[in-house]
Amino acid sequence: MSEIKRFTRVEIQNRNSKQDAVFIINNEVYNVTSFLDDHPGGHEVLLNVAGKDASEDFDDVGHSTDAKEMMKKYIIGELVDEDKVELKKRTFNWEEHSKENANTSFVSSWKFPVLLGLLMTMLYTYLFG
Ligand code: HEM
Repeated sequence: MSEIKRFTRVEIQNRNSKQDAVFIINNEVYNVTSFLDDHPGGHEVLLNVAGKDASEDFDDVGHSTDAKEMMKKYIIGELVDEDKVELKKRTFNWEEHSKENANTSFVSSWKFPVLLGLLMTMLYTYLFG
């Protein structure tokens, strides 16, 4: 197996033309020069991010699993360790989620009856006080 080629962000910076379009997605380096005309989203969007880190833009579009499969063809290497960023965890965090839920249900479970009780008291005093 051949060694994975390592790039620095600076090396990629100027590779932003139609003749040489390279970008970074999730610390991996993609050469999409041959894909420019075939990209269903058009070549402009790819050229806009060429030379840069396109991770966020790629994610924002919500590309299909087909697209993610397709992109493997264009990998030419990855970033050197010093230039890598920590990738956001995509795994679902149950603990955090249940904590969030516990908070919201706590708020809605005590605020509403208390407020209702207060209103009833005020109404009672107003009518019969
Ligand atoms: C090698 C990398 C990429 C591959 C293989 C790829 C592939 C595709 C494919 C197959 C689609 C059709 C829809 C889908 O299946 O999700 C698509 C749509 C699109 N892509 Fe990409 N894409 C890549 C990178 C990017 C990047 C970096 C951007 C943004 C800067 C981008 C922006 C878009 C947009 C705007 C659409 C159109 C979405 C729509 O019409 O709803 N793509 N891409």
